[in-house]
Amino acid sequence: MYRSHTCGELRYSDIGLKVLLSGWVQKSRDLGGMTFVDLRDRYGVTQLAFNVDDEKELTEKARKLGREFVIQIKGEVIERSSKNKNIPTGDIEIKVLSLKVLNSSITPPFTIEQNTDGGEDLRAKYRYLDLRRSCVQEKLRLRNRVSLETRKFLDSKEFLDVETPVLIKSTPEGARDFVVPSRMNEGEYYALPQSPQTFKQLLMVSGFDRYYQIVKCFRDEDLRADRQPEFTQIDCEMSFVEQEDVLNLFEELIKHLFRVVIGVELEEKFPRISYQEAMERFGSDKPDTRFAMEFVDMNEVTKNKGFAIFDNAEQVLAINAKGCSEYSRKEIDKLTDWVRRPQIGCKGLVYLKCNQDGTYKSSVDKFYSQKDLDCWAKLAEAKPGDLLLLISGELDKTRKQMNDLRLHMADKLGLRDPNVFNPLWVVDFPLFEWDEDEKRYHAKHHPFTSPKVEDIDLFDSAPSQIRANAYDLVMNGVELGGGSIRIHRRELQSKMFDLLGFTKDEAEEQFGFLMSAFEYGAPPHGGIAFGLDRLVATMDGVDSIRDYIAFPKNNSGRDVMIDAPSPLNIEQINELGIKS
Ligand code: AMO
Repeated sequence: MYRSHTCGELRYSDIGLKVLLSGWVQKSRDLGGMTFVDLRDRYGVTQLAFNVDDEKELTEKARKLGREFVIQIKGEVIERSSKNKNIPTGDIEIKVLSLKVLNSSITPPFTIEQNTDGGEDLRAKYRYLDLRRSCVQEKLRLRNRVSLETRKFLDSKEFLDVETPVLIKSTPEGARDFVVPSRMNEGEYYALPQSPQTFKQLLMVSGFDRYYQIVKCFRDEDLRADRQPEFTQIDCEMSFVEQEDVLNLFEELIKHLFRVVIGVELEEKFPRISYQEAMERFGSDKPDTRFAMEFVDMNEVTKNKGFAIFDNAEQVLAINAKGCSEYSRKEIDKLTDWVRRPQIGCKGLVYLKCNQDGTYKSSVDKFYSQKDLDCWAKLAEAKPGDLLLLISGELDKTRKQMNDLRLHMADKLGLRDPNVFNPLWVVDFPLFEWDEDEKRYHAKHHPFTSPKVEDIDLFDSAPSQIRANAYDLVMNGVELGGGSIRIHRRELQSKMFDLLGFTKDEAEEQFGFLMSAFEYGAPPHGGIAFGLDRLVATMDGVDSIRDYIAFPKNNSGRDVMIDAPSPLNIEQINELGIKS
């Protein structure tokens, strides 16, 4: 037997107990007469005490223990003279009677504690040591609670957990596929699923009625804080449902998770806004609604006063940074430089300071009278003390830039409180998106999404105006999940592929199996998938999903611990029939 208790378990009431503990040496302190060792495991830390007068040999042995040695001790629980109120075991310590070194450790490259001295790269290389830190373990514990509660909830609603294959054919979710060569079928490749989309639809055709899976998905796309090349979805599909049924049930799931896992009651009914409205008010289909700072359309009040940049712009937009009229010249210059960075791409930034005395100061005073500027302020509902920030240009681009500026200002002003959770559904997405470079339509969600019945007539005349039965769940500026009601008839699915520029042969070759299945009595169906990594990170008030994944990839898609990806050896290349 290695242990009778864990290192987080013993309390004052256990005094007098003889115990066996195993764990890692967190640190040791040699105070001459006494040597103290902090013994750590997943459950906590317990102090071990060695008294040189009582146990000379044992204390000598304890003094030689290095950080991260794995040891087993036998001892007696005694009252601690100087109690540590910061840890649950702080009232007691163990008077050690015997000590066995189970394994030694070379000096770890960084300290295994919350405020570690290890930088990000070093911790990634030794992720197994980083994962020993309790603050990191805490994040995976949260993830475990979320997935466990998800399973319980979905099980109670009759969802069946069904596994779907990982070696498949491409599913178009808008990213590039990761591909796997087939040795047995030389020259042919599997694709790793970007999601189990087609399989969950086929399960509906098979009559499973309610499916879910907590499943790995793979996408070869540019990485960001909230994107990993392999990530996990809570993937769900239901038969005989309309959009309203899906939204209500999954709103209940999210409320349940927040309530039971982190004790947060979300508002009774999540607000819903259309894609169109989200773009107009926030310039984003995943708006952070913890704060207002909504867009103001300034076209009416800014044009025809001789300021060519605004006169020639398709759109002039403003946001109101409340209480910022005292921004110095230097601060405004800094903001201007920020919006001019290539990642944002603005040509410039116009400001309007609403001074406390009711006067206005703007960077374009030359073109606008105080009366004109008063109109700006009125339209934007700006009060003395506020600062309006204006940018202009082509509509879509300006919205995107203003969205970046809005979030940047909110960060600066501390308006993105990690303890506030603002969910909303974004609905009525367009079915198609026009790609100006490729001169063709893309599916905004994916090609299996159904159009709104009332918009079907627009298929031939105005495809870009067709709205989809698609929805996203957004929280604090993060897209937590997305789904749609699907097409379940062959003709409509085939029409969709036509519009997306597939030839009949291409559509048949890639998705013939699905369209055939639709001919055998496919039920109306729809579903949704949540990003589990994003959900957990958002619940924890953190932007980056990396720490919520045990072994994540870095920004270049590398696992620096196992050094992957890596080249194949020549035998493997030959066996797979790949030309290098
Ligand atoms: P979608 O592509 O919107 O929909 O993905 C669903 C959710 O998965 C999460 N997500 C990611 N998380 C981390 N890293 C990534 N690279 C990444 N990509 C996506 C997001 C997103 O909202 N098959 C459809 C779902 C459906 O229609 O039912 C799908 O995959 O949180």
